[in-house]
Amino acid sequence: MNLVPLKNEGRYDVHRVRQDFPIFQQQVHGQRLVYLDSGSSAQKPQAVLESLKETLTTHYANIHRGLYEFSQTTTTKFEQARQKVADFLHAPSSDQIVFTRSATEGLNLVAACWGGANLKAGDEIVITQLEHHANIVPWQMIAEKTGAKIIVAPITPYGDVRADDVIACFTSRTKIVAFSAMSNVLGTITPVKQIVAAAKERDIVTVVDACQAVMHQSVNVQDWDCDFLVFSAHKLYGPNGVGVLYGRTDLLNAMPPYQGGGDMIETVSFSGTTYKNAPARFEAGTPAIAEVIALGAAIDYVCGLGLDAIARHEKMIFDYAEEKLQAIAGLRLYGKAPDRASILAFTLDNCPSSDVGMILDQKGVCVRVGHHCAMPLMECLGVTALVRASIGLYTTTEDIDALVDGLHTAQRLLG
Ligand SMILES: Cc1ncc(COP(=O)(O)O)c(C=O)c1O
Repeated sequence: MNLVPLKNEGRYDVHRVRQDFPIFQQQVHGQRLVYLDSGSSAQKPQAVLESLKETLTTHYANIHRGLYEFSQTTTTKFEQARQKVADFLHAPSSDQIVFTRSATEGLNLVAACWGGANLKAGDEIVITQLEHHANIVPWQMIAEKTGAKIIVAPITPYGDVRADDVIACFTSRTKIVAFSAMSNVLGTITPVKQIVAAAKERDIVTVVDACQAVMHQSVNVQDWDCDFLVFSAHKLYGPNGVGVLYGRTDLLNAMPPYQGGGDMIETVSFSGTTYKNAPARFEAGTPAIAEVIALGAAIDYVCGLGLDAIARHEKMIFDYAEEKLQAIAGLRLYGKAPDRASILAFTLDNCPSSDVGMILDQKGVCVRVGHHCAMPLMECLGVTALVRASIGLYTTTEDIDALVDGLHTAQRLLG
């Protein structure tokens, strides 16, 4: 992301934006709420809450089933949300958007359905050292089943993913490469386009974990040219319980279903069943109806603010936070990749990270502490736990000042 940082928060009025989030009206332990854990799950704007309420109170019904008006209205809004997701990702067709329970389920689906149908003993699956467990464990499970092997591309000592290092792992046996577009621990932004282009030349299927990336940059699946991509609604200021899987049409329709049940079939008889094409093929049972529609509202909300404006604001906050944190004696920042965004992970010398987290909590500052669902990365960094502050579209310089103040308190109490 080569974005020019704003000099101040003037053009993007973050204090006005915060008024859209009812949660910030509350205090925690008698202190102003400082939410620096958006990388884990983002807070919800009023528009998303209103959308949930509207579906549930004015036209709620199951979808794709009823002929009555409520069901028709809800079905239309559900499918409009699918189109909004397709537009948001620049997908050629909304039929390429599958709603799952989470990004985790999307990755499990690709591993089980594509991997189950296409991998055999000796084939290789390439991932990187900085993946979230959701992009490691499903591959381990399918590797165990099929006899395929996992090859792990290294990161640099700066926490950077270099395209050349990933490409160097490709062999004639590589069938699929699955990697994150942005690290949930180090904020590293991955050279998606270069990795995908090199994979395409070798007929290697590509899976992009865009869980963090969708919050911080514009994602264009046609520009990236990836075969599959996943993200979760709850990190994009939308509700829990909804994930998105984007897939190439021919690959999706050649894959067996993930689960069987209602809405995914063409015909069922005791002599056999035929399946619909994507997306219905992968959407067995009643989905999270109000939540999917509210994801559409979340997309409208972030697009209304402007993805570039959000990214510029977050870059300004990130630079401010990095400077302030670097000035704290005994604070060690992890990850120095040239292309990074919105996430700062660190330790404080002689201060256990869990104690730091608890002291920050008493000051109303919410951060994540631990292995961040990336134990192999922790091992590679030589740590067991990091404190992580992650920035969202509502983060202010005051939030960062409160974090810094809390860290000084932690040092005084623990050091
Ligand atoms: C990079 C990355 N991938 C995958 C996931 C899994 O997302 P979910 O728990 O919403 O399925 C996360 C969540 O933190 C993540 O940050």
